[in-house]
Parts: sequence; C-alpha cells; structure tokens
Amino acid sequence: MARIVVLTGAGISAESGVPTFRDADGLWEGHRVEDVATPEGFAADPDTVLRFYDERRAALAAVEPNPAHHALAELERVLGDDLLVVTQNIDDLHERAGSTRVVHMHGELLSALCRSCEGRAPFRGALLNRPACPGCGSRDLRPDVVWFGEIPYRMEEILDALACCETFVSVGTSGAVYPAAGFVQQARAHGARTLELNLVPSEGTHFFHEARHGRAGDLVPAWVAGLLG
Ligand code: APR
Ligand code: ZN
Repeated sequence: MARIVVLTGAGISAESGVPTFRDADGLWEGHRVEDVATPEGFAADPDTVLRFYDERRAALAAVEPNPAHHALAELERVLGDDLLVVTQNIDDLHERAGSTRVVHMHGELLSALCRSCEGRAPFRGALLNRPACPGCGSRDLRPDVVWFGEIPYRMEEILDALACCETFVSVGTSGAVYPAAGFVQQARAHGARTLELNLVPSEGTHFFHEARHGRAGDLVPAWVAGLLG
C-alpha cells in the first residue's frame, strides 16, 4: 500500500496548456459544464458532447507533460509502489511523463465506454462518426469520462490508499468537486500528514496541515527534491 498519495487536478496540466475549469470565465472551452459534462447534456445533444471530447482528445497531440508531471514520475521511479497518483484529469500527461501507478478517477480521453455492453477500450479516433464497439460491434460508444452525477472510478482502491498513506498531497485542484475534495479530510482522519500545492488557496485549504502556493511546475519539483534530497 502506498506511503504517499498525490491527488492531481487541472492545475497540474495548466502549464502544459490544458485549460482548467474554474479559473477564467466559468466556461470550459466555450461550453457550460452542464452541457458537456452531464448525462443529461449528452442525452439532449449527443453530437455536441461527442464533438467536444473529440476536440479535447485531438488537442492532446499539441501538449506535453511539464516539470510537475516529470517530478512525480521521477518520484515513482524511486518509490515504486510507495507512490500512488490519483488524478481527476482525463489527459494522459502523467503517463507520458513516465508515471505508471495512476488512477484516473474521472476517466480518460483516450478510452471509450460502450453504452451497450459497458466495455471500456483504448480509443484514439473520433466518436462523432459512431465507430463500432470493439467488444460487441454496436455503434453506441461514449467518452469514457465520469460526468457530474456519475460515480468516479476505483473509489474503493482510493479510499483504502487514503486510509493507509502517511502523506497526502493535493496538486492543482480547486477543492470544489466531491468526492475528491474530501480526500484531504479522509487521509487526515487516518493520520496522514497533508500538504496542498496550488496556485492559490483552494476551497479546502484550511483542511491541510501545510499549504504552499505557486505554480505546480515550481512547487512539485521542489517538494520532490526535498523528499529525495
Ligand atoms: N499550478 C498550480 N495550480 C494551478 C495552476 C498552476 N500553474 N493553474 C491553476 N491552478 C489551480 C487553480 O488555482 C485552481 O485552484 O488549479 C485549480 C484548478 O481547479 P479546477 O479548474 O476546478 O480543476 P479541478 O479541481 O481539477 O476540477 C475538478 O471538476 O469539472 C470537473 O471533472 C472535472 O476533474 C474535474 C473536476
Ligand atoms: Zn460494446
């Protein structure tokens, strides 16, 4: 069981050029979150939702991991199983930096979920043109992302890790969306030391033993260097 659990959010990918959700105008690439990140939004206008995630998936080609992702990959090379990264992000920047122990609790852009057979499969193309499910052949694939009102992935594994870890670190997340926003309190209740690394104080900043504010690309490498130093 991992000694260190790091929760990451949109802020860790911001310096790579992936937009965050809650910083600017309250819109996500020009869309209201309710329209593109809820089952109701998908039912109302599937083409808009499929096109939206197709664009996000295509945009991954233009971004690269930044020093914060690389520092966590470096930490995993040293700690192995003693580090678990739990990310709310649907991009693949942790993996591209070299991290292998990553839980995508809100799903992944590079995966598709079949609404007929409920199978999940790696996916790199466009969903808008209704490709066939590799498992059952039906043309009923949706983005494999967890929308508001849906249950995040691998919660049991995450809660076990929070209960056992010695250190919990939250990087680049606003603390506005549960259940991730409650992880700090769960880890702390089980005795973990808790640290926030974020551009500004998050909504839950007072739940942490310590908070450092600045850019993830500076704060995460500095924290890792301190641990490994
Ligand atoms: N370095 C560190 N933190 C940053 C940086 C940066 N360079 N840039 C922005 N931040 C911080 C912001 O100040 C903010 O507190 O990252 C946080 C990003 O918050 P959100 O945009 O709310 O993203 P996140 O917390 O990941 O959102 C959670 O909400 O819409 C849903 O499912 C979606 O996973 C997402 C979830
Ligand atoms: Zn299927």
